[in-house]
This record gives sequence, structure tokens and C-alpha cells, in this order.
Amino acid sequence: MTAMTILVTGATGNIGRELLRDLRAHGAGPVRGLTRDPARAAFPDGVEAVAGDLARADSLKAALDGVVSLFLVPGAVGEADVVAAAREAGVEHVVLVSSITVETHPHLPAAAQNHALEEVLRGSGMAWTVLRATQFTSNTLWWAESIREHGTVRAPYGDVGLPAIHPGDIAAVARVALTEPGHRGRVHALTGPERITPRQQVAQIAAAAGREVSFVEIGREEAHRQLAPLLGAEIADAVLDLTGGDVNEGLLAVRDTVPRLTGAPGRTFRQWAEEHADAFR
Ligand SMILES: NC(=O)c1ccc[n+]([C@@H]2O[C@H](COP(=O)([O-])OP(=O)(O)OC[C@H]3O[C@@H](n4cnc5c(N)ncnc54)[C@H](OP(=O)(O)O)[C@@H]3O)[C@@H](O)[C@H]2O)c1
Repeated sequence: MTAMTILVTGATGNIGRELLRDLRAHGAGPVRGLTRDPARAAFPDGVEAVAGDLARADSLKAALDGVVSLFLVPGAVGEADVVAAAREAGVEHVVLVSSITVETHPHLPAAAQNHALEEVLRGSGMAWTVLRATQFTSNTLWWAESIREHGTVRAPYGDVGLPAIHPGDIAAVARVALTEPGHRGRVHALTGPERITPRQQVAQIAAAAGREVSFVEIGREEAHRQLAPLLGAEIADAVLDLTGGDVNEGLLAVRDTVPRLTGAPGRTFRQWAEEHADAFR
């Protein structure tokens, strides 16, 4: 059993990869990264790769052994069981990734699901911190194939600007919440530093990748026809509401949480595009 161990779930994902690096760079204690396939995980030196499936809480026993702080990225079904397993294992503090839609669009099913998990965590008896993130800059990877193959993005709501957040900034806030005092029992709403439209995102991706990319605005119905086979009709509708069809002041607002908590300015979309230019070449 290792003292003060932090377990990072979603460790191979957009936030988790950054969080592992950030924790190591800041000299946090022992860090474990959870993945369903440790053989494929390329974690930073000093991070222990552990196997486990969030959809099967009973598979997490070894991963949770000795863990004091848990970073929980939901995505599978059954996270309520994961919270129970963490409590059982003696975890003291859970930092949960949730969504800003819990406050801006509580009527949407995904928001209700996030809210329900927040409530499970609040009632768990463990200390908790909830990070309600807005849409990620990494969502534009959905366009990567179309950009690589056709030099085009076809998307709706081209001129609706939202304050997309760099996953590295969610990770930076998570690192602070996991390792510094003052964040237990707190909900942090997280956005990027500026509003940016899909048209501007495409222009910045084109500049970063050094190639021409055209933006073709399409209507909601065409966008729904594209998304529904991938996401299901209900989630496709929710995505379209949240990217322009039903935005509100809460979703549009730029929050100062990231700079306030991390002491560094929020990372811009331009920075994210430059870091990920290869995905679009
Ligand atoms: N995208 C947005 O705009 C947005 C906004 C607000 C909140 N969120 C939330 O952010 C989260 C996504 O974060 P992300 O972008 O960092 O993730 P991501 O890049 O999509 O990666 C998903 C991660 O989850 C892990 N995972 C998936 N199913 C798992 C399972 N059954 N057991 C164990 N691990 C599992 C994967 O690990 P392995 O494959 O290695 O096992 C991977 O590390 C979701 O909870 C989403 O609801 C997203």
C-alpha cells in the first residue's frame, strides 16, 4: 500500500494525459493512471499504469488500493458504483469532471446524468470537488478526417462563439484541486479565456496546419443527419442545441476560474490548434 497516492481515470484521454504530466511536473506524490489497456498506455516516467474498467467497479480493487485522491472522468455506465468502490477502498477526496450544462441546460439528459452523479458523490461521505467544464477545444478533432481528406469543414452555427476550454486547463485546475487545500466541497465552472466561433476555429486550424481549409455552413437538419448515426438522435439534438441552436448567457459567458485557480492565463484555441496541428495535416 502506497501513501497519498492519486489515481487518475481517463488517463489516456484529453484531460488525463495532461493531468499526469502536470502532476509529475509539480512533484505530486505517487500517481497512477487507469486504463483498460495498460500495454498501450504511454504514461510519463514515474506514473504507474493500472488496469481497470469503470463499467465494472469490481475490476478497480487493485487500482484503488491505497488511493487517497481520485480524479474521476465519467464516460462509462455505472460510475455510481465507482464512487461506492472508492469509498469502500478508503479514498478521501474525489475530483469529478462534470459539465457546465448542469447549470446552463439542466433539462438535457446528459446534464441530468452529470447532475445525478454529482449528487451521488456529494452524498458519498468522501470530500469532493466538481469541475463543470464547457465544451473542449479537442472536440474539433471531429473535423480532422474531413480536413485531412477534403480540406473542408461542414458544420452548423458557424458564427456562434463559445468559450471552448483547452483540456490542459481542466487538468491544471484538477491538479490544484487534488494537491492544494481549499477546494473540498467546491463546484468550479470552467471555460476558456475567449469566445471563438467554428469559422474562427477552422481558420486557426488551417493556419496552424499550414493548409487551406474551407468552412461550409450547413443547416441544423443536415447536421443532424450527419450526427445522429454516430451519437443517436437525442444526443445529436443536444449537441446541436449546445453549439448554437439553444445557447444562453450562462453557456456564452467567459469565466475567470482557470486563471484564478491556476495563476496562469487560460490557454487559447490558437494554442490548442498549434499543439495538435499534425492531426489536421
Ligand atoms: N467534450 C466536451 O465538450 C465535454 C464537456 C464537458 C464534459 N465532458 C466530459 O469529459 C469527459 C471526456 O474527457 P476526455 O475528453 O479527457 O476523454 P477522452 O479523450 O474522450 O478519453 C476517454 C477516456 O476515458 C477512458 N475510459 C472510457 N471508458 C472507460 C471504461 N469503461 N473504463 C475505464 N476507462 C474508460 C479512456 O481510457 P482507456 O480507453 O485507456 O481505457 C480514456 O482515457 C466525459 O466524461 C465527458 O462527459 C466533455
